[in-house]
Amino acid sequence: MKKKTLRLLPHPVLIGLMGCGKSSIGRRLSKKLKMPLVDLDDIIVQEAGMSIPEIFAHDDEQHFRDLESAALARHIGHRVILASGGGVILREANRKLLKSHPPVIWLKASPEFIAHRIAGDPNRPLLANQDALTRLTELAAERYPLYSECADLVIDRESMEKDDITECIIKYLKKCVKK
Ligand code: S3P
Repeated sequence: MKKKTLRLLPHPVLIGLMGCGKSSIGRRLSKKLKMPLVDLDDIIVQEAGMSIPEIFAHDDEQHFRDLESAALARHIGHRVILASGGGVILREANRKLLKSHPPVIWLKASPEFIAHRIAGDPNRPLLANQDALTRLTELAAERYPLYSECADLVIDRESMEKDDITECIIKYLKKCVKK
């Protein structure tokens, strides 16, 4: 891709339920677009000096959400690809920020698809000690309308491989420049 085209492309924010591929697709986009990736979960872990399950256990979910909102506010709008945590859309202030920094891209995946991918992952405090599919179904019911409210583009995560999704996002970003 030409340098000038790369410079003009808008910088996307990736949203969606945990395990839908935000970080891995973010890494692919970062490589192709030569734009840094900021993964909000990684920033929070680095700054807190604790893993996400530790933050949830040591403080509580609200504290994690405070760190998440602060990290979002600090990094949104910069020339980076932003991979968010699945719950970033829960707070109204975060949704407002997301909506004022398009394009926001929702990688939409069903609870069944995700449950299969993250079975047994110890790094998911919201699923700890519960049936993953039941909990993900609850989270999807609560969050789908919020993802939808923020999204400029919805991608059906299940119908495509990650490389094809990456290309589809790049095509969309190029179209944004032409508009
Ligand atoms: C969460 C998703 C996680 C992480 C935290 C809370 C959520 O991020 O932020 O465990 O509320 O869905 P990923 O979506 O990157 O897994």
